[in-house]
Amino acid sequence: MGVTLWASVLCCCTILWITLAVSGKKQYQARIRACGHPPRPVPYHLPFGLDLVCHLVWRLWQHDFVNYGWEILDVPGRTVELNLLSRRIIVTDNPENIKAVMLSQFGEFKRDHAVHNAFHNIFGDSIFTSEGESWIRAKNDIRPQIAHIRPADLTTTEFHIQKMFDLIRTKPDGINVYEAMDRLQLDIVTDVFLGRSINSLTMKRSPIQDAIDRLVEMSMLRIRVGPMGQFLPDWLLAPRELKVLDRFMDGVVDKALAQTKEKPDAEADGNLNLVLEMAQKGRGRKYIREQITGVVFLASKDPTAITIAWAVLELARNPDIMASLRKEVEENIGLDRLPTGDQLKRLPLLRNVIRETMRLYPPLGLNVRQARHDLSLPSGGGPNGKLPVAVLQGQQVAIAVTHAQRRAEGLIDGETWIPSRWEGWTPKSTEYLPFNIGPRICLGRNFGILQVEYTLVRLLQEFEGFAWLDGGDRERKMKFKVELNAKAAEAIVCRFVERGMSRDGV
Ligand code: HEM
Repeated sequence: MGVTLWASVLCCCTILWITLAVSGKKQYQARIRACGHPPRPVPYHLPFGLDLVCHLVWRLWQHDFVNYGWEILDVPGRTVELNLLSRRIIVTDNPENIKAVMLSQFGEFKRDHAVHNAFHNIFGDSIFTSEGESWIRAKNDIRPQIAHIRPADLTTTEFHIQKMFDLIRTKPDGINVYEAMDRLQLDIVTDVFLGRSINSLTMKRSPIQDAIDRLVEMSMLRIRVGPMGQFLPDWLLAPRELKVLDRFMDGVVDKALAQTKEKPDAEADGNLNLVLEMAQKGRGRKYIREQITGVVFLASKDPTAITIAWAVLELARNPDIMASLRKEVEENIGLDRLPTGDQLKRLPLLRNVIRETMRLYPPLGLNVRQARHDLSLPSGGGPNGKLPVAVLQGQQVAIAVTHAQRRAEGLIDGETWIPSRWEGWTPKSTEYLPFNIGPRICLGRNFGILQVEYTLVRLLQEFEGFAWLDGGDRERKMKFKVELNAKAAEAIVCRFVERGMSRDGV
């Protein structure tokens, strides 16, 4: 009797579950049909796309994001859907869709919630993670300070570059270029925007830099494990690092607030640094802390250091181009005079070297947004990839910037670094967007470009050249490590050759 009752309950539950699942699926399909069409799905065979999840994790683990992207995006309409554990993610490098997400349908998307949650411990509600009114307020506070170059910025940069030269000279057998550039940028941006440099270049290891690296690593771990990430807070995973960062940032902000209290009428005339300027405007402690942490540790140093490191690698792999660039510097500035901002803008080869580096290696290789409501993207749906694509509320759209830039219209050999291509080629803004496009465009792009230009010119003035120590195969495609920014998966180790020393000594 008891067994029959249990069997009947089980049977009813199963029928109810199947009915709910079928009606849920019907509703879901109706919502998709109401907005457009699904794009091609990336195939999977196990329930909930478990095989796809494992494959994706494996490819990311192998730093094979670029090849994987080519495999899945090689479809009509350049748009696919990934179904991962009941989550649907649209991946696209279709220029029409890029334009819609970043520009024409900007208001229908928001920043990805997963990133916001994972990084909340470090960056709180900084400009990167905020939306609407609070984003506009942050933008208005930050833009005047970072969008323009001040004459003193070059003096500060030169001061820290000298320290970097000292560091390079302590490693005559080769130095990890990304690490050196990361330290350089950290020292510069803390000096310029906080008025207090971390001076990591003169230390063996900087506790702040280590703390930030570890905290970013933990945030990436939270993104990778999805909803489970909420059970992995930083106070559990990296309590010491959290304390180091707290102590440093609180010190900087409290000093600025105290200074402002002492001199409440000091003029915010562009001579104040970012933190003082915000204190002067009466912004609160938490707000200032979150904004400056975001700008200094997330926005500015990483992409700039990554770009310089890639440019150094490509110049080392292409000695002819390096020689031409050095000649351009010698003829227009000289090897013994510090470059001015104006001189840097008049070096066409330098400009093309930087543009090409950011085309092939955009630091933000994948830019993710989330749909605010059910909507459609212009193209990529249906079997021919020409119909509108349905995206439902909360679903993510991942823009594959790296892929869009490597197959832009009119490009030949898009996977190869060829600065001279820029002499006769102008890409569309939806096919070349290392700084993004639309309202969320990078606010610090002038400062970032200046840093890249200045550092490359100073390296070419100070040294005769640089040699990549793993330079056996110049054609080798480099792999990317996808973190918040995409950087080289392996160390780029170069030997810098002193001026006057024979190239045979390389
Ligand atoms: C070569 C160097 C740089 C590159 C390639 C770069 C790239 C980018 C990109 C792609 C975005 C858009 C992010 C998104 O859509 O999610 C962005 C935003 C931003 N960047 Fe940069 N960036 C660079 C340097 C800098 C520097 C030096 C600063 C500060 C001095 C800075 C400050 C910002 C800020 C504040 C935002 C947020 C804008 C907003 O959300 O309204 N960036 N950057």
